[in-house]
Amino acid sequence: MASTASPPRESDPHSASAKPRPIPDTVDATLGLLTHGRYVADRSLATALFLALRLKRPLFLEGEAGVGKTEIAKVLAETLGRRLVRLQCYEGLDVASAVYEWNYSRQMVEIRLAEAAGDRSRESLGSDIYSERFLVKRPLLHALESDRGASPVLLIDELDRTDEPFEAYLLEVLSDFQITIPELGTLKADEPPIVVITSNRTREIHDALKRRCFYYWVDYPNAARELEILKVKVPSAGAELSRQVVGFVQKLRKVELFKLPGIAETIDWTEALIQLDQVALDPRAVDDTLGVLLKYQDDIAKIRGSEAANLLEQVKSELATVAPG
Ligand SMILES: Nc1ncnc2c1ncn2[C@@H]1O[C@H](COP(=O)(O)OP(=O)(O)OP(=O)(O)O)[C@@H](O)[C@H]1O
Ligand SMILES: [Mg+2]
Repeated sequence: MASTASPPRESDPHSASAKPRPIPDTVDATLGLLTHGRYVADRSLATALFLALRLKRPLFLEGEAGVGKTEIAKVLAETLGRRLVRLQCYEGLDVASAVYEWNYSRQMVEIRLAEAAGDRSRESLGSDIYSERFLVKRPLLHALESDRGASPVLLIDELDRTDEPFEAYLLEVLSDFQITIPELGTLKADEPPIVVITSNRTREIHDALKRRCFYYWVDYPNAARELEILKVKVPSAGAELSRQVVGFVQKLRKVELFKLPGIAETIDWTEALIQLDQVALDPRAVDDTLGVLLKYQDDIAKIRGSEAANLLEQVKSELATVAPG
């Protein structure tokens, strides 16, 4: 697709300079790609991603907050050397913010200049100001543009936050990867972008959209995988602290809370504890830092004190039997 000077777009600094790489040809290679991007995935996720890439279908990732949905798209763009085009969804998102809009002020200036010079007919001016030069491209339009022969990664983040009319519009774009601008014509992707859609399931996404995608539920990790994530993301954390943190968070996720901690919170909590020079958990350190882990006062009030001490006791005794010393 032809392109004009681009407005700033979200892209990873590495992907902008790295050479585009072909998509992986096996599940193992896909797993390797994620590992290379410091994303700890299990085989089922790698399989879903592999199939979505090979069959050129959007990957629809649903899951609780902070379980690593958005990160998958970022890692994909980085490791495949592709541009990351991100469409952050919100209530009221419209075509002007998601697809394109005309640069009215520049069009006005052009009209004034043409009037002053008096050298253009009304028709030629009319077609001029509705050319690509005056088009402000937004993420969905950018996603149709290849970069050095490779299609970008289009991240449609938190789709559940948009309203249904926009979802219906998206359905059309994702079916044909083309966008019609009445004044300009139809713009079509040379090659469809790699699409990752995420949702926190605050509302159900329409079946018609889901049907076009590969669906994958991103769950909370088990203890072994969460420990692995900590090793990769917070390498400075000691083994004992990491095991206790993971043990505690895993237990916390079994308690009935308004909002359970995600992986993001596990990482943040570990980093906070390191800042406090904690090499292991103790009840006071847990109480003092609960706000990193839990984000609702009711949840904090429920856990702080005896419940936290009790959970910590269980974690320590379990770890003592599993990994003595
Ligand atoms: N499997 C994983 N391997 C490595 N890091 C991970 C993994 N899962 C999550 N993370 C880390 O956890 C943090 C949160 O991930 P991310 O932002 O992708 O979550 P999310 O599911 O998109 O959350 P939200 O719904 O709140 O947007 C990131 O810093 C990410 O690096
Ligand atoms: Mg996210």
